[in-house]
Amino acid sequence: MSKSSKSTNVVWHESTITRAEREAMHKHKGAIIWFTGLSGSGKSTLSHAVEDILHKKGCSTIVLDGDNIRHGLNGDLGFSDDDRVENIRRIGEVAKLFVEAGVIVLTAFISPFRTDRDRVRGLVTPGDFIEVFCDASLDICEQRDPKGMYKKARAGVIKEFTGISSPYEAPEHAELVIDTGAADLATCAKLVDSYLKQHHIVHR
Ligand code: ADX
Repeated sequence: MSKSSKSTNVVWHESTITRAEREAMHKHKGAIIWFTGLSGSGKSTLSHAVEDILHKKGCSTIVLDGDNIRHGLNGDLGFSDDDRVENIRRIGEVAKLFVEAGVIVLTAFISPFRTDRDRVRGLVTPGDFIEVFCDASLDICEQRDPKGMYKKARAGVIKEFTGISSPYEAPEHAELVIDTGAADLATCAKLVDSYLKQHHIVHR
């Protein structure tokens, strides 16, 4: 429970159905595939491409995407450091629930702070958290600028923009580092799919 928790007098109720039973039903393991990288680095595109591959194989999957989650669950959060910490804390807890349900959850958040990503890693069993660094340089992301946000950030219209006026801490021990600045989408997606097979998250 987080240290800011106000929930007292609550007792954990154990499920009668185990995670192993749920995974047996899905015919694959539950896992968090955590895509991190700058805005425009290809996290969302890649997570959906991987989901397409997994879905075609009959896997139970869900993509949690920064822009979408900020419309609903995290609509009350902005982009200050504290709000980004809370954004990732909530997503981590949601992702953990999906893992318990035996689902492969693919998350696409900038998640700029190493400690926040590591905290999510610590919520689940070793091996259940697969960090995928979408390693496209700031130059490339800024050239792409798919939503015109870098331009606005440079002009000072958007404050605290990651890479421009807010930090991004690259992973030091990511399970996968993918050159999403240069490699084509199908190649990048295959790298993730191969990792999942090699590590027995999926069986085919
Ligand atoms: S995170 O830093 O808290 O992990 P998250 O992935 O949820 O960010 O949201 C990032 C998306 O919000 C970006 O892709 C971009 O479209 C939008 N956005 C709006 N303002 C900012 C900002 N100041 N910094 C980064 N992204 C922003």
